[in-house]
Amino acid sequence: MTPSSPDVRVLDDPSKVARAAADAIASAFVRAVERTGRFALVLAGGSSPRLVYELLGATRRLDWSRVHVFWGDERCVPPDDPASNYRLAASTLFAHDGPPTHHLHRIPAEHGPAEGSARYDEELATFFGSPTPGAMREPAFDLVLLGMGDDGHTASLFPGGPELTSSAWCAPATAPPGASVAERVTLTLPAIATAVEVVFIVTGGAKRAIVARALSSAAADVPAARATARERVHWLLDRAAAADLPPAKAGSS
Ligand code: 6PG
Repeated sequence: MTPSSPDVRVLDDPSKVARAAADAIASAFVRAVERTGRFALVLAGGSSPRLVYELLGATRRLDWSRVHVFWGDERCVPPDDPASNYRLAASTLFAHDGPPTHHLHRIPAEHGPAEGSARYDEELATFFGSPTPGAMREPAFDLVLLGMGDDGHTASLFPGGPELTSSAWCAPATAPPGASVAERVTLTLPAIATAVEVVFIVTGGAKRAIVARALSSAAADVPAARATARERVHWLLDRAAAADLPPAKAGSS
């Protein structure tokens, strides 16, 4: 359980949010390698992370041989589909260089929600040596990068979804009508909670209301607000997304 309240930083614009997220990932990499010799990084999907991935992909801040990459969720499409979260990372973060293939722990969501989730659950249980995230003594992931939808979902943990109560590593999920792809596989809240750190990147005025709700005391029904970490949950916001936050919440820039 996260011992303290979330750390909230408000930056001028999405490019500064991306730089701050890239810095957070690079710092977490150094700490993780010192602690365990490797860095277990969970990538977010959607559009917000693109700038972060392009930044990190263009620099050589991470020793890819030490990095194991996982995904917070995946749409049930082939890995080369434009809607694939794997393809987003492959075409940006790993455009120039990247971890060895066997370090890329892609969610096999093309097999459908149930089969894809069962296969990924087995892969995570084998990799971390634990049948469920709740049985982990040590942290599993070092940093989980997350976005948030304007309904408060994160990864593919949707308001009122059965995936919110799963105790497994991952679960099948269904996005609400209107989402780009309905069928999904998602990490669960207990899996996210095995992370040393969680970093949210949320930008744009369309999310100002849900950001204010997610960071308020009335956040119980906001899936993103239920994400916890062993050490700290960080929110990296741009000014537009933070516009409805009370001054006391809108931390340092
Ligand atoms: C996905 C993401 C999802 C995303 C939010 C925010 O697969 O869609 O994992 O949780 O982070 O929907 O999406 P944007 O960054 O596009 O606003």
